[in-house]
Amino acid sequence: MTELIIGGVTASTLAEKYQTPLYVYDEEKMRQTMLSFKRGFVSKHFDTKVLYASKAFQTIEMLRLVHEYGFGLDVVSGGEIYTALQADFPRDAIYFHGNNKTPEELIYALENELLHVVADNLMEVELLEELSQRYSKKVDVMLRLNVGVEAHTHEYIVTAHIDSKFGMSYESKECQQALQLIKESSYLELEGFHAHIGSQIFDVTAWLAEIDKLTSYLTDFEQPLSLNLGGGFGIRYTQNDQPIPIEEALKKLIEYTEEALDKRKLTIRQLLIEPGRSIVGEAGTTLYTIGFIKKTPHKKYYFVDGGMTDNIRPALYQAAYDCDLAEKLSEEKTEKVTIAGKMCESGDVVIKETYLPKAKSGDLLAVYSTGAYGYSMSSNYNRATRPAVVFVNNGQSRLVVRRQAFSDLLRGEVSYDPS
Ligand code: LLP
Repeated sequence: MTELIIGGVTASTLAEKYQTPLYVYDEEKMRQTMLSFKRGFVSKHFDTKVLYASKAFQTIEMLRLVHEYGFGLDVVSGGEIYTALQADFPRDAIYFHGNNKTPEELIYALENELLHVVADNLMEVELLEELSQRYSKKVDVMLRLNVGVEAHTHEYIVTAHIDSKFGMSYESKECQQALQLIKESSYLELEGFHAHIGSQIFDVTAWLAEIDKLTSYLTDFEQPLSLNLGGGFGIRYTQNDQPIPIEEALKKLIEYTEEALDKRKLTIRQLLIEPGRSIVGEAGTTLYTIGFIKKTPHKKYYFVDGGMTDNIRPALYQAAYDCDLAEKLSEEKTEKVTIAGKMCESGDVVIKETYLPKAKSGDLLAVYSTGAYGYSMSSNYNRATRPAVVFVNNGQSRLVVRRQAFSDLLRGEVSYDPS
């Protein structure tokens, strides 16, 4: 095989049909991952639910796919709610997150029967109490807790981030007041506790510490509550990343939760998780066309027709990616190169250093594992148009988001008569 094939379609066919830069999603890969989550996240002792953290990649077509697997949804803004509603996502499976939800967003949620709210702080619970009364809606509240555990890929810190902008510490006065308010409210009901300890986690130890913390709080309650462990399952961006197979990781989380509950003679209503990146990340590939090639005294650049506008992660987090010349897979990687984007910014580098075959202008470059937080964090900087998104499966491709046209750049602009 000398050419990259995604979902049964060659990269060159995709580039010809949809142009580049292009976000390509392997639908079967996403389906397989969702199946692994479905199979791995089950317990004989309590109910379980997987919520897709849609901030990783949200389009109507994606939400439909997620719904096929019976997953719920984590949304974090009015805009994400709007998209979920347009996708006809079951409203009782949507959980509304965020540390600073506006009154308008909360009203929008309540009016549309989105009644699971993950509340971040006391002021939010106070506002929810007022709004739930005003709109006569019973709201299930999960409190976002800061359990003091922070995962950094392979290690974790226990007393990390007490000043995080997210959540409350269970012991804090603010959290206890929030709990009291929920207890006294006739519209709010405590559904349980939520925590999210980080992203791109490769070792389950931090989650086990989180489970210990969360279950320890449950002893203060007579009724069984639900626990949401958040997302953060790591994926493979480059050869250096060694994620744990998803079913294996989930099995460990389930078993540990069962043991922690058993030890304390507790039951829970439901255990939830919220993976985002792990569902879509590795399924996504970005196709670029190489334009100019340039040598400087110490470097060789391959310039591509996109960059930080379609993938801000290298500039923002120094994120690393693997790539290939999509039509020269079997050629020797003799060139040490930097892949840079076309935006007017020195930091617009897609891959700092990699080895590739000798390229010529017009060659296709495939950057792997771009499915999470690429499209969703894309921008129109430099008036770049957002690339198209396609799903491929079984040798067929379908357009999910059309490429922006220049006219899309002016949408919303108000022009005044110069006279
Ligand atoms: N749940 C909560 C409450 C979260 O804050 C997040 C991610 C997730 C779930 C999903 O985490 P995941 O499974 O995708 O790691 N833009 C960054 C990632 C920000 C993550 C924010 N929260 C990136 O590109 O790496």
